[in-house]
Amino acid sequence: MSAPISVLFVCLGNICRSPTAEATFVAEVARRRLEHRFRIDSCGTGDWHVGEAAHPETRRAAERHGVLITHRARTLVTADFDRFDWLLAMDRKNERNILRLSRGPEDAKKVHLFRRWDPVEDPEHPEVPDPYFTGEFDRVFELCARTSRALCDALLDG
Ligand code: 4NP
Repeated sequence: MSAPISVLFVCLGNICRSPTAEATFVAEVARRRLEHRFRIDSCGTGDWHVGEAAHPETRRAAERHGVLITHRARTLVTADFDRFDWLLAMDRKNERNILRLSRGPEDAKKVHLFRRWDPVEDPEHPEVPDPYFTGEFDRVFELCARTSRALCDALLDG
C-alpha cells in the first residue's frame, strides 16, 4: 500500500483555526471514505494552550455544521517535518514561525499557506483571519470547509 498523504495544519494557539481546518479536512476525507489514505493532525507555534480542548466558540461553530472537534492543543516540533509532507499555515506569521524550525530546503518546501487552495481566495488576503481576536468563528469554519474540500481534491489529484 502506498504511503499516506500526511497533512499538518498549523496556527498560533492551536485552539481556533488549525483545529477547524483539521476537522473540516477529516470530515471531507471521511465523506469520501478515504481515511486509510491520509495522516492528519494540527498544532500551534505557540505553547499557551497545550493540552487544552479547542476554543468553545470554535467547537460550537463546527457543531452547528455537524463537525465534532476533539483535538487537544500541541506545539509544532522539528520531528513534524519528518512525519508530514504538507505543513499548512493559517497565516504568514505562522508560515514564518514554521520556516524558523525548518532544517533546510527539503523541510521548507513542505510549508504552504492553507488558503492557497481556497477556491474563492482573495489574492490580497491569503490568510485565515484569527477568530480568537475577530470573533468570526462561523466565517472561519466556512472558509476552512471550502478550502479543505478543494485541498482534498488537489492532494488526491497530485
Ligand atoms: P489560533 O488562535 O491560532 O487560531 O488558535 C489563537 C488562540 C489563542 C491565542 C492566539 C491565537 N493566544 O494568544 O492565546
